[in-house]
Amino acid sequence: MKKIIASNFKTNHTRSSTKEFINLIDQYLIDNQIDNEVFVFPTATSLDTFDLKENFTVGAQNAYPVTSGSFTGEIGTQQLDEFNIKTILIGHSERRHVLGESQSEIATKYAYFKEQGYTIIYCIGEPLEVKEQGLEQTLEYVWEQFDGIDLSYENLILAYEPVWAIGTGVTATTEDISNVHNAIKQKIEKPLLYGGSVKPSNLEEILTIDNVDGSLIGTASWDVESFKQMIKITNNI
Ligand code: PGA
Repeated sequence: MKKIIASNFKTNHTRSSTKEFINLIDQYLIDNQIDNEVFVFPTATSLDTFDLKENFTVGAQNAYPVTSGSFTGEIGTQQLDEFNIKTILIGHSERRHVLGESQSEIATKYAYFKEQGYTIIYCIGEPLEVKEQGLEQTLEYVWEQFDGIDLSYENLILAYEPVWAIGTGVTATTEDISNVHNAIKQKIEKPLLYGGSVKPSNLEEILTIDNVDGSLIGTASWDVESFKQMIKITNNI
């Protein structure tokens, strides 16, 4: 299977710089005949209709599990449908730990978007205090993040992102990644990305670990040249 690469913009880029970024990446994929699956998750205000190469998808970082209604500050599928967005990130550690989404809210969101046929990139990962307790505790924590989640869903991609490695510059070691990825893959046969301080200098090493099917990248993906470089590395594996 070809490796997958995804960029999570988080709270970065404007509507116009997003458009420029996406068009430059599209052109890069065409010029270099790259057919790995590539995803970009811009801010909600930067969603738009883009005419892209078939392996390049724009998704939503978040949405509320409704079509429309009275949920101040949220968007639903009515707003996503306007731009044909059919891909969403669910369970990202910042939504869990900074915005306070509970596992049951996440499971409700997952069930809703599954019902609507969305491709879901579902994120899991343990905080530092759990990692420090060892692999067994880490896996136990990760299994709980699958509570209420239908893992047989056909359009599911998983992303393991240890919280302590996200946006910190601290990357998990090959052994850390390998231990968790092997354990997840033994139970769940879905594409499994790794995320957490992935950058051009460590991507190749990470992608060659067994059971790593691609990467979900924040910080190092916001610069278009850096993202292109990582697409190239991904394509060469
Ligand atoms: P990072 O973020 O690459 O900045 O560590 C990864 C993520 O949150 O998906």
